[in-house]
Amino acid sequence: MTEKDFLPSEYTSQKDTGTVRWKSPSNIALIKYWGKKPHQIPANPSISFTLSACATDTSLYFQKLDTASKSHLSDGKYSFDLFFEGEPKHSFKPKIETFFQRIQIYLPFLREYHFRIETSNSFPHSSGIASSASGMSALALCLMSLEKEFSPDMTREFFNQKASFLARLGSGSACRSIEGPLVQWGAHLNISGSSDLYGMPYPYKIHPIFENFQDTILLVDEGQKQVSSTVGHDLMYDHPFAEQRFAQAHTHLDTFQAVLADGNLDEFIKIVESEALTLHAMMMTSHPYFVLMKPNTLEIINRIWTFRKASNTHVCFTLDAGANVHILYPENEKKIVYAFIENELLQFCQNEKHICDRTGQGAKKL
Ligand code: DP6
Repeated sequence: MTEKDFLPSEYTSQKDTGTVRWKSPSNIALIKYWGKKPHQIPANPSISFTLSACATDTSLYFQKLDTASKSHLSDGKYSFDLFFEGEPKHSFKPKIETFFQRIQIYLPFLREYHFRIETSNSFPHSSGIASSASGMSALALCLMSLEKEFSPDMTREFFNQKASFLARLGSGSACRSIEGPLVQWGAHLNISGSSDLYGMPYPYKIHPIFENFQDTILLVDEGQKQVSSTVGHDLMYDHPFAEQRFAQAHTHLDTFQAVLADGNLDEFIKIVESEALTLHAMMMTSHPYFVLMKPNTLEIINRIWTFRKASNTHVCFTLDAGANVHILYPENEKKIVYAFIENELLQFCQNEKHICDRTGQGAKKL
């Protein structure tokens, strides 16, 4: 597939007004996307667990514009209102406007309609949980449902591919939030069908242990992100270790194939924790440099290592570009690991705040 395959052919149907609604999950990368080329092309392939509890619910109301209303739209503008948790949210509008501009050629009907976008998250807004993956994928899916009204013969496979393709243009990691439980994005020589343009369900054998993996997210720092992802990805441009890092992600994906097939948790832990620490190492060694972990992040990591050794369990951690910690463990160790989290780790979260999540099957049409 190339970009051209996502340009629409003639629409066979019409619809003047209606509503579509999707609930789309967040995802947590195991092999990280960090660094990109123009047009939201990743510098290296990545793979993530699709989550289920952390999600965005988006309704899209559409109403065809009459000629007079269309002529009132100034150049390059779109007609839409945005409501976040029931309130108008003007600060989100520029991001949506940019998204619409990027996807205009793939969805030429965007300028023909007035949209009312109503969106809400299942997780607290300022929790430090990135909402761009679930938010952009939910909106992309709503727009695809609208396009499907115009092209009713569209296959499910194409629908999901194009939804992922569009979501990527909103936020890279959003393209991994359409399906589940493991999604791979980015061209890799040894992964058949992999593409820089969209994410796809991991195409090889996945051991059942990974189908209901637990992710307890510890909210260590609820503040605004210290480094936006745009700034973060840009740090990889002139980074002294960029090439080694991109090569490492390819190698990790190769190793992952047997790990995922066999359910080899010891090797899984080695790769996942190394990826998290490498991501932070990249930020510590860029110009400018950043330390995004907090003392409590390190305290949690050390306690996980001590507990893992003492308990013979398979608990491990991963990190996003921030101080919060995702604690990953198989379901059959849930009782003992969650007791450890409650007894030893919640004291390092702001007001003991945490979210109990697990792998999921992807977005749902409501
Ligand atoms: C550290 O997808 O937020 O979470 O494409 O600029 O929107 P943009 O970036 P974004 O980057 C996510 C980076 C990460 C790792 C990952 O999810 O793979």
